[in-house]
Formats: sequence, structure tokens, C-alpha cells
Amino acid sequence: MAERKAIVILGASGDLAKRKLVPALNALNQNKRLDPDTIIVGSGRTFFSDQAFRNRFNAPEGFRELLYYHQGIQGLKQFIEEKGAFSRIVFFCALPPSTYGQTAQELRAEGFGKEAALIIEKPFGYDRASAQVLNTELTKYFNETQIFRIDHYLAKEAVQNILVFRFANPVFTPVWNSECIESIQINAFESEGVADRGAYFDSAGIVRDMIQNHLIQLLCLLTMDVPVSLNAEEIQKKKISVLKTMQVLSCNRFQYQGYHDEKGVAPGSTTETFAELKLVINNPRWKGVPVYIRAGKAMNRKGTEIGIRLKPLPNLLFNEKGAVQPNKIVFLIQPMPGIVLDVATKIPGKHYQIAQTPMKFCYRDSFDSNIPEAYQKLLEDALNNDRTLFVSAKEAEASWELFGPVLDAGKVEGYEKFALPFTRFSFDWIDFERYPGACSK
Ligand SMILES: NC(=O)c1ccc[n+]([C@@H]2O[C@H](COP(=O)([O-])OP(=O)(O)OC[C@H]3O[C@@H](n4cnc5c(N)ncnc54)[C@H](OP(=O)(O)O)[C@@H]3O)[C@@H](O)[C@H]2O)c1
Repeated sequence: MAERKAIVILGASGDLAKRKLVPALNALNQNKRLDPDTIIVGSGRTFFSDQAFRNRFNAPEGFRELLYYHQGIQGLKQFIEEKGAFSRIVFFCALPPSTYGQTAQELRAEGFGKEAALIIEKPFGYDRASAQVLNTELTKYFNETQIFRIDHYLAKEAVQNILVFRFANPVFTPVWNSECIESIQINAFESEGVADRGAYFDSAGIVRDMIQNHLIQLLCLLTMDVPVSLNAEEIQKKKISVLKTMQVLSCNRFQYQGYHDEKGVAPGSTTETFAELKLVINNPRWKGVPVYIRAGKAMNRKGTEIGIRLKPLPNLLFNEKGAVQPNKIVFLIQPMPGIVLDVATKIPGKHYQIAQTPMKFCYRDSFDSNIPEAYQKLLEDALNNDRTLFVSAKEAEASWELFGPVLDAGKVEGYEKFALPFTRFSFDWIDFERYPGACSK
């Protein structure tokens, strides 16, 4: 008999459930990606009848019948058993992170065991020590293989494509090292400030909220060695190996003007809303290649992108005067995903004058523009017990360890809202402003 599955959203009255999880499950159902007979159970301290819960999401017919609600964890096992026999039950903790340990304990006490999987959202701790405490707490009740740590960046198509770009296109294999690459640069810019998440953000800052997790995961995918298979453990092994050789050399922190007036922000807060970092990777492949990362809120534009700048040509032939720009590969992650390869091209009619011209791939030109939302992929994978796009305990801890020396360290400088702070590094950033529009409509 086919395995029957259930997904339980704990904290189902919250923002994440409403904006992301239920819509993602609805889309999976519409696209026939949910196994038949899967049920979706909301749970929380608030009381809802099944009817009231279904109405909260304007759930369309064909989907609303899959939704149920149970108040609290006590009695949840019996409630689910009354709906049928389920061999896989995925619990999505859409809850404050401080409750993860207690929730795992309550689920275990309620009698959930081998059939259960637990999805948790970042932050996975606040630093190395608290991440370790959380991992120890969770593994008292469930095995590591039952714990799914979400990094929704890993489920973005343009991020998954990094491994394909690197390992399915032999043209790039010989250049993917310090012999040919001059630097790696990553940006993650948001045009909005902290909006209504001021209290959460103020306790974290941009290094914890974006860089330590999402951007370091991107860097791992960009720099890890080839795994022997696409098996989750093999990929995680390679990511950890490269992560453990990374070192943060400096971190400059900035805060936008007017941040203190945001709702939920503590008076006198020194939380950074923008940071720029320099890292190195101390292994033979990446020796001497600096990595620069910038992330911030209230920037002049929105966009996440990765730039790989290759080493310049020697000063002969077309580059006698050193004017030919080195090749660049730019991965556009969001909002409009694609890849641009900047190449030198002869300007027609001119005597070997050279211009930088983009060769580009845009998702919207090559594929159906309807790219599934990250949560759809993650929920589907968790239901199917595929851990490839989830973060292991070891990765989470190694990533915190990397940031140990720079978290909250040093002074915080101000910057004008909706402007990019002037870099403190004497380094020539790629002119990323040339690329964000490359794949726009
Ligand atoms: N919202 C986002 O866009 C977003 C993005 C990234 C990560 N996350 C993470 O996802 C998780 C959920 O986010 P959210 O924005 O949905 O959170 P939320 O709205 O603050 O809380 C979700 C639900 O958790 C329950 N809850 C609150 N305090 C609790 C407590 N002390 N003990 C037990 N239950 C409690 C509440 O439901 P009841 O009162 O009914 O129990 C609440 O509706 C958090 O870990 C957050 O960091 C959220």
C-alpha cells in the first residue's frame, strides 16, 4: 500500500503559514505534486474549527478539504490517527526559534517517533554555542536524519543551478580555481528597511540574518569540490570541507540613518543593517583568491548576485595598454534570475578596438517563466525525505564558528537610507549595476 503522508504546521496562525506555507502547499496540490490522500494539519495555541482555519486562507475547493486544525500538541497524535494511518508526518515549526527544543520534546512525549520529521527555520542559534545547544536539545528527541533545517536560498532554481553550471559544463572546470579566478564577490541587497520585523532583526543584524547562513551557503556551492554523487550526505561533506577552510579577515558594519525610529528597534541599538566582509579560503584550489560579500537593507536597489572576476590578460596583443577588462561571470539570483558572461568583443568597423559585451542566459527566455517558489520545493522534498537542500547540524555549527571573531565586533558607521555605503576596502568591486536589468522584462 502507498505510504500516506501528513504535514503539520505548528504555529499555523502565524505570518509564515499564511504568506508562504499554505500557499506553497496549495500550489503543490494544484500541480499534482502532493501524493493523493496527503493531509495538512494546522496546530497552535489559538483555537480554530477546521472550517474557520480553511476560511483563513481562502482555500479553493479541492484543497480546502485537505486542511484540518487541532489546538495544541496534546491529543494531536490521536487527532491524526482518526484521519487514517500515516507513515510519514512532517512537522513544520513555524514558531519562535526559542520554542524549538520544547516543541520537539512535546512531540516526542505525544508519541511521535520514527515516522516524524521536523522542519525548522533559521535562526539556528545566535552563535556557535547556542547552535550547539539547540542541536543537542533537538537530537535528544529526534535523530539528525529527522531534522530538516531550512535555508530557503538553497531551494532557489538559480542557486541549485550553480552546481549544474560548475559540474555539467566542462568548459568552466579548468578555470574554477586560483589560477584563473581573481576574486569572488557576492551582493544581497534589499531596498526595504526592516519593515514590521524590527524586533527580530534588531536582535540579529544582517550578518546573522543573511550572511552567516544564506550567503555562506552560496559560497560553499561556488567553491566546494565535486561530490561523488548528488546524495545529500555527499554534498554536505563537500560543503563542510570547504567551509572549514574559510576565514573571515574583516567585517565592516553599518547602520542606516533613521533605523532607531523603526518599530521594535531598541534605543541606541548598534545592530548592523549593512555589512561588507572579506574572506579567504585556505585550500590549494582557492589560495590567494579573496571573497568579498556585501549585504544590506534600505539599499538603493534590490538584488542578489554573485560575480566571478577572472584574472586579467598579460599586457600584450589586445591588452598592451592594460585596457581590456577581465572576463566576468555574473550569476543573477534574484529578482530576475539568469547568468551573464562578460566577454571582450571587437567593435565592428574599428581597428581591433574592444568592448565588453554580455552573453546572457535568462530563465524567462529559456524556460517556462513559472518557476516554483522555494517553499514548494522544500516542502515537497521534506515530504519525500530528500535532505539535499537542507542544512546539516555540522554545517550550521561550522558556519557560526567562521563568524565567531566578527559577530557584533567593531564600530558601526552610519549610511544614508536607500544608498550603498562607500566601501572601506581598497578594492575594485565589479560594476554590478550593469547587470541587474539583464534579465528584466
Ligand atoms: N515570517 C517570515 O517571513 C519568516 C521568514 C524567515 C523565517 N521565519 C521564521 O519562521 C518562524 C515563524 O515565523 P512567523 O513570522 O510565522 O512567526 P510568528 O507569526 O511570530 O509566530 C507564529 C506562531 O507561533 C505561535 N507562537 C508564538 N509565540 C509562541 C510561544 N511562545 N510558544 C508557542 N507558540 C508560539 C503563535 O501561534 P499560537 O498563538 O496560535 O500558538 C504564532 O501565530 C520563526 O522561526 C521565524 O524566525 C519567518
